[in-house]
Amino acid sequence: MNILLTGASRGIGAATLLLLREHGHRVAGHSTAGGGGLIAADFVDPAAPRALWKAALAELDGRIDVIVNNAGVFEGVAEDASDDEWHAVWGRTLGINLQASADLCRLALNHYRDRGDGGRIVNVASRAAYRGDSPHHWQYAASKAGMVGITKSIARGYASEGILAFAVCPGFVMTGMAEEYLSSRGGEQVLADIPLGRVAEPAEIAEVIRWLSCDAPPSATGAVIDVNGASFVR
Ligand SMILES: NC(=O)c1ccc[n+]([C@@H]2O[C@H](COP(=O)([O-])OP(=O)(O)OC[C@H]3O[C@@H](n4cnc5c(N)ncnc54)[C@H](OP(=O)(O)O)[C@@H]3O)[C@@H](O)[C@H]2O)c1
Repeated sequence: MNILLTGASRGIGAATLLLLREHGHRVAGHSTAGGGGLIAADFVDPAAPRALWKAALAELDGRIDVIVNNAGVFEGVAEDASDDEWHAVWGRTLGINLQASADLCRLALNHYRDRGDGGRIVNVASRAAYRGDSPHHWQYAASKAGMVGITKSIARGYASEGILAFAVCPGFVMTGMAEEYLSSRGGEQVLADIPLGRVAEPAEIAEVIRWLSCDAPPSATGAVIDVNGASFVR
């Protein structure tokens, strides 16, 4: 399959890129600055998702079967921050995590419709979508809840055209994004909250993304898969 994967430079994205390629898929990977064979696109720029889509289509000979929206930021802002600071973090988080994902979902959807033979969308959301996040991360939880809302809307709206949409909601995963949080909140307290006794490995999330991208049966469209060591069961 031909797959466009955002945020492929490190963490979950890097593990996913490796796994998908091991399984023989053609993957156009992306990161903010590019390099190492990845396509550059900084999602702070509203024009970046369309430019990325075009570059990925060119790299994949005009056909994309799956879009994986994995790129994201986890930035905190205090309740008593200045209005400017508050709006800047909200704007960046919603722009990168939610708007860019929505834009790429729309581009994928229209591409699948034009082709007429369906396609898949996999959105990497978070446990925070359902559970909420820490006091300085409302905007992160809001962005991820938004991704789940997009996923379900697409699943319900376009299943009849063979367009399938799924979301993954990881809890803590051993990547740079979680490290800062784990060290600031006290790793032991976080671990005590995870019945499995450890945070997830990026390869575990990658395997769920691979399955949703390639193997999940069509009737599973709209599903949100939790991967959190039972730290949040619902
Ligand atoms: N780690 C966790 O505990 C955890 C838990 C739940 C959900 N998630 C979600 O899983 C996904 C991957 O997380 P991760 O932990 O692997 O993150 P990570 O290691 O911090 O990597 C983030 C990825 O997003 C890209 N990115 C960052 N800012 C960007 C921007 N302005 N424009 C375009 N791309 C940008 C980065 O590219 P560069 O390398 O070029 O900066 C990188 O590839 C995210 O959506 C995250 O919210 C993670």
